[in-house]
Parts: sequence; C-alpha cells; structure tokens
Amino acid sequence: MIYLDNAATSWPKPPQVIQAILDVLKRGCANPGRSAHAMARQAEDALLSVREVIANFFNINDPMRIAFMPNTTYALNTAIYGVITRGSTVVTTAMEHNSVLRPLKTLEKEGTINLEIIKPDKYGKVSIQNIKKTLRKGIELFCMTLSSNVTGAIMPVAEAGKICRAHGITFLVDAAQGAGVIPIDVEKMNIDLLAFPGHKGLFGPQGTAGLYVREGVIIKPLVQGGTGSFSDRLVQPEIFPDVLESGTLNVPGIVGLGKGILFINDTGIENIQFQKKSLLEMLFDGLGRESNINIYSPPPEQNSGILALSVQDMDSSEVSYLLDRKFGICTRSGFHCAPLSHLALGTTDTGLVRISPGYFNNETEIELAIKAIQSIARGMY
Ligand SMILES: Cc1ncc(COP(=O)(O)O)c(C=O)c1O
Repeated sequence: MIYLDNAATSWPKPPQVIQAILDVLKRGCANPGRSAHAMARQAEDALLSVREVIANFFNINDPMRIAFMPNTTYALNTAIYGVITRGSTVVTTAMEHNSVLRPLKTLEKEGTINLEIIKPDKYGKVSIQNIKKTLRKGIELFCMTLSSNVTGAIMPVAEAGKICRAHGITFLVDAAQGAGVIPIDVEKMNIDLLAFPGHKGLFGPQGTAGLYVREGVIIKPLVQGGTGSFSDRLVQPEIFPDVLESGTLNVPGIVGLGKGILFINDTGIENIQFQKKSLLEMLFDGLGRESNINIYSPPPEQNSGILALSVQDMDSSEVSYLLDRKFGICTRSGFHCAPLSHLALGTTDTGLVRISPGYFNNETEIELAIKAIQSIARGMY
C-alpha cells in the first residue's frame, strides 16, 4: 500500500511517537490535574513538558496559553465562538475548511455576525492585495488558513498578520495544513489565535490538537466542566489553560504529539520541507504534461505538499477508487470539506483528487503513483 493522504492525517508516525504512547499506557497514565498522587503528578509534568515543546516550536511566550483539544475543528470552533461578539464583522476567505465556514455561516444566518469572504486566484491563493482591500478598523476577527487543504496553496499569513495588528483585528490562523512544514512564529506573524492539529504535519496521533490564545485576547469557553482546579466553585475557572480544558485530556496522545514535534526538531523542518517539495516536483513533472489531466495546485515552492488534479471525463471519486482498488494507492477525492474552494476553482462538478505525500514517502512510491495515474488518465487500467 502507498499512503498519499497525509493532508487528511499523517502516516506512518515516527517510531519514537509510537513508543512514547505505549510507554505512557504501560508505565502509568493517571488523570492529570485531578488527584495529587505521584502518578497524577507525573502525568501533569508530562503535559507541561509538551506545552513547552509546542511553545518553543511556535515561538509562544507562555506555554500555559496553549490549550489541548481533540482536533483542529474543536480548536477553531472554540476560537470563533469564544471571541466574537453580537453585531461584529468577521472576515474570512473562500479557501477555508468547513470547520471555519460552518460556524461562521451559522453565526451569520442567526444574525450574530456580519460575514465577508475574500476570493482567491485560480490556484486558490488569496492575494495580500485582496486582504488589504478588505481588512479595516472595526472588524473583530479575521480567520485564515495557513495553507489550502484543497490545493496546498500557501497563504500570506505573515503579511495578513501585520495588517490585522495595524487595524486592531484579532487574527485567527488555521494551521491544519502546513504546521510542521511551514515555520510558524506567532510573534513575527502577529497571530492572536493559532489552531493546530497534532495528527497531521506534527506527527502526533489522532485525537490531538491545540489552541494558542495570545495574552489579552478575551475568550469564552465552548465547553465547561471539570478542570481539576477550583473544584469547590460552580463557575468555570478563568485561568489558562483550565478555562478551555474541561474534561479528561488525551495524555498518551499528547505525549506522542510532543515526541512528534521533537522528531521535527531533530530532523530539521527545512529537511522535511525539502523532502516534500522534491516529491511534489516529481508529481508535477510526471503528471503536468498529461493531456487528460488538469492540475489545480500552485508549484511546489508555493505549496505545503498537495497536488490536486482532475482527470478529464472522470469523477474524482472514480479516480481515487481505481487508485485504491487497482493500484493500492491511498488518495482523497471529492470536495475536501471546502465547498467554496471548489466554487472558486470551478471544480464543483467532479471534485478533485488530492495527492498529499509525506516525509516518509520515497521516490519509488511516487514513480508508481505517477504511472498509475497516467494509466487511469489514458484509460489503460
Ligand atoms: C484546513 C483545515 N482546517 C481544519 C481541518 C479540520 O481538522 P481536524 O480533522 O483535525 O478537525 C482540516 C482537516 O483536514 C483542514 O484541512
């Protein structure tokens, strides 16, 4: 089997991630922040050290401003519902995932917010000129993805951050695609809220993610309940990260996520970038000249690691089905939870086949994938 669906979740995981999860489960996995016994303290310390690893990775000053979440969707919903106020204006882009678009559209429909959506170019890239034209004083929140989950187009986050800061707009970045490949510095990029997955580019297991909230940003919790702190009170504690971390956390998963980030630090993010870019270049070279194939992704240097394509006269799900059943190659087809991206790209009829290689793929696998896609495009399968 050749796994080329790393934009959905990364696989395989580095051995040290798997080992760390097993070790936690075997050696002791008490509930952190609840009881005061040695095993619970050990779990609490383990979480603190992962918060420190994450803070260091994203240049976050205070590790306690990072709240662990079960997935990026939860982190994005927490950020959106937590900061908006009734009657405010929120801006986002047409390249967002439904985990941003659905909550915002719901809030717009019920009359809570005014919503403005910025359109991208033909490769799904949102230009800084369009962002500049739209953002202005008085806007409460700007939500933007670091990179498109449909085309891989890298967005001008650092430039957008500067504009947000100048206008006093709270800046929420969805780093589901790109964290672990594109260096993120919340200070330099002026990011106020960073939603990141553990299970994609950071090599952690599923069920891990986080939300960073800059000091001074006022946020209400999406979920309230037991935090292990101030247990005698009937109201949610306001201290971080407790305010956003109700309920038992995924300790083994979070420890695995910490090891995933350390793996990136040891490997070098630039080497991960280089490997993914080389594999993407092979895909572009091998498929770019095929007459029945249309490519919708920007070139590798502007791309976080996705090649999105369509094969003439075929539905994307048929192409992915054949790749899986006839060639043992895992890709994703359809609309990728990003309906406005497909409107902008003109691909609402067939959807797109998304090929997303990861750091652990090799050239032989990419050569086999190219041959398989060529065979399908030529009707020779
Ligand atoms: C851009 C983007 N945002 C958000 C999400 C949601 O991530 P999760 O599955 O971790 O909730 C995804 C998932 O693929 C994504 O690609």
